[in-house]
Amino acid sequence: MSQTKPVKAAIIGCGTISHIYMTNLKNKFRITELIGCSDLIQERAAKRAAEFGIKKMTNEEILRDPEIELVVNLTFPQAHYAVSKQILEAGKHCCVEKMMTVNFAEARELAELAKKRGLLYCAAPDTFLGGGWQSARKYIDDGFIGKPIGLNAVVSCSYQPAGDKFDLDPDHFFFPLHPGGGLPFDLGGYYLHNMINLFGSVKRVSGFGGNIDPDRFFLNPSHPKYREPFHVDTPTTLSGALEFVNGVHGTFLISSDASVYDCFSVQGTEASMTLFHPNWFSGPLTLHRPGAVVDEEKNIGLNNGEGYRPVPDKVPLPLLHGYCDNSRGLAVADTAYALRNNRRPRAHFDMGLHAMEIIHGMLESAKTNQVYQMTTTCERPKPRRTGVETGSGQEITIDD
Ligand SMILES: NC(=O)c1ccc[n+]([C@@H]2O[C@H](COP(=O)([O-])OP(=O)(O)OC[C@H]3O[C@@H](n4cnc5c(N)ncnc54)[C@H](O)[C@@H]3O)[C@@H](O)[C@H]2O)c1
Repeated sequence: MSQTKPVKAAIIGCGTISHIYMTNLKNKFRITELIGCSDLIQERAAKRAAEFGIKKMTNEEILRDPEIELVVNLTFPQAHYAVSKQILEAGKHCCVEKMMTVNFAEARELAELAKKRGLLYCAAPDTFLGGGWQSARKYIDDGFIGKPIGLNAVVSCSYQPAGDKFDLDPDHFFFPLHPGGGLPFDLGGYYLHNMINLFGSVKRVSGFGGNIDPDRFFLNPSHPKYREPFHVDTPTTLSGALEFVNGVHGTFLISSDASVYDCFSVQGTEASMTLFHPNWFSGPLTLHRPGAVVDEEKNIGLNNGEGYRPVPDKVPLPLLHGYCDNSRGLAVADTAYALRNNRRPRAHFDMGLHAMEIIHGMLESAKTNQVYQMTTTCERPKPRRTGVETGSGQEITIDD
């Protein structure tokens, strides 16, 4: 049982995602003590404060409070830069939801600021710390696919201004179609953090596409702006190739113009593995290896399109780590342990910054017709140890 003193934390931004963060920072992790919350919209902060029995504060009160060591920035992406900068300038450690900022230059500036001030600055998404992704990494590191050669990822999701309240008020402000919120920055971040967790830094990227359909129309007859033009000011479809420093080659397609689809697979000299949507902390891992043993009893459900006949060479892999449920805030808890144990946080800003540069590089490459050479590198985050403890027992895997 850890005797570590909990880290007093507060949250700025009380929108959709704040509920699960507060639930977990309050109840799931012992290392965090959630003190208060704020939002530009006072009623939102008041509602969450009442729900979770914490203080409703203003941003300024949080930043001035000497007891608060760590501030979690859950504002929308366009506010990430200004709010994270205020947090760091106030001398507080900062964890920010994805992505760090809406452009690479701002992210680099904040990384420099954190470095200069000696503060911890961590960036979501933190699903790479989940049980499914930690297990995938262990299987790959342990040689289950042989030498890693390639990866292939696609994520698409049709975002259209179809709702009748679309973009009319803060609740319906649809950030995926505004600067910094496009799918490359939104869901793309999950894929990139997980790719970096599996294979490390990227050396070069190429990209095609961008904002392929900037002028759209409100399509819903009940929307007050029906048939009026709607300008999209963010990249929506981007494809590219990534060359990792370790020699792995990857292809990646991200689109908010195509209908819903996702896949993520890795290929090695001896086998390949299909993974799951990186928006989740866990999911099925399947090994595809010629001659892999199939247990017919347990293989029910893995069908090959001809009923439930077991598929040779296709084996479901058990998950080896805890935190398989919705553990949003796990990187905040990990950062709190990093602070107490004087170690590097797993979601260190160099990972967020590197992910930002990959998107930036794909966009630059699309504009210039040139391959983009990455200027940043990042350490692969330290893996969590195996073990399928449940509840707060899992916390021992980040108290290191
Ligand atoms: N919604 C999701 O399912 C989801 C999932 C994972 C991550 N995220 C990420 O979490 C972050 C927040 O997303 P959300 O869906 O909760 O957004 P949201 O729009 O529902 O909430 C953001 C809140 O931040 C507040 N805010 C904005 N600027 C502020 C400022 N300067 N000071 C104080 N408050 C401010 C807004 O008033 C709003 O209440 C984003 O970075 C997003 O990418 C969202």
